[in-house]
Amino acid sequence: MRKIAFTNQKGGVGKTTTTINTGAGLSNLGYKVLLVDMDPQANLTYSLKLHSNRIDKNIYHVLKSEATIEEIVIKHKSFDIIPSSIDLSGAEMELVNIPAREMLLKDAFMEIESKYDFVLIDCPPNLGVLTLNAFTAANELIIVLQSEYLALHGLSKLMDVIQVVQRRLNKDLKVEGIVCTLYDNRKNLNREVVGHIRDYFGAKVFNTVIRDNVALAEAPSHHKTIFEYDGESNGAHDYQMLAKEIRNGH
Ligand SMILES: Nc1ncnc2c1ncn2[C@@H]1O[C@H](COP(=O)(O)OP(=O)(O)O)[C@@H](O)[C@H]1O
Ligand SMILES: [Mg+2]
Repeated sequence: MRKIAFTNQKGGVGKTTTTINTGAGLSNLGYKVLLVDMDPQANLTYSLKLHSNRIDKNIYHVLKSEATIEEIVIKHKSFDIIPSSIDLSGAEMELVNIPAREMLLKDAFMEIESKYDFVLIDCPPNLGVLTLNAFTAANELIIVLQSEYLALHGLSKLMDVIQVVQRRLNKDLKVEGIVCTLYDNRKNLNREVVGHIRDYFGAKVFNTVIRDNVALAEAPSHHKTIFEYDGESNGAHDYQMLAKEIRNGH
């Protein structure tokens, strides 16, 4: 079971979009996929319209040992989902006094060991205890970078945190790859930025670049993956290519 966390402590770079549509792309390839929403903003959950009063428990309750994954998991056509909610925003504070508070998600995953081919975790836009839980539970990280000026800004802080996690919490964690998103080929600046990212990270950067594509921004308001919303779009093409690169290993 490959457990991959999609991360960047910046918001708006395409983490949630990438988690959902890479998951759908892997599902198209025949794999059993679980998506885990670790962001208190619950954008992944809302994008798939899983948020309603129907769900009274979510990942927050799992982290607090008040629910099992099996109790809260939701079935979607393409994958299973562990939803989040605003409840989770209190977790950072509440978990402060819990021993080994970075291990809670990893421990919860023992329940699903080998039930899925891929577990994809959508991280919140910070480097707090929820992100540390994601990095400890995962065995791979994919860093999501927007193809914009300052894309690399703040990345050394992320790399420091990854190294600390590898040293203290999860020695098996590896950076599987870097994916550039929101790429507009007409903009010289975007081309330059992706060039810099490739110079800096070399072969770690996926060949697939996710283009700026309005269908990707529209799909969540229809509560659909890109493949359900517009299977012919550039977004569908790019995420299917990315899913294949991830499947093949980097
Ligand atoms: N490749 C893309 N093309 C067009 N819009 C995108 C693309 N990727 C993401 N978006 C839009 O940009 C916004 C931020 O993306 P999101 O995945 O929510 O980022 P994050 O999870 O990093 O905060 C959302 O409105 C999303 O629909
Ligand atoms: Mg997000």
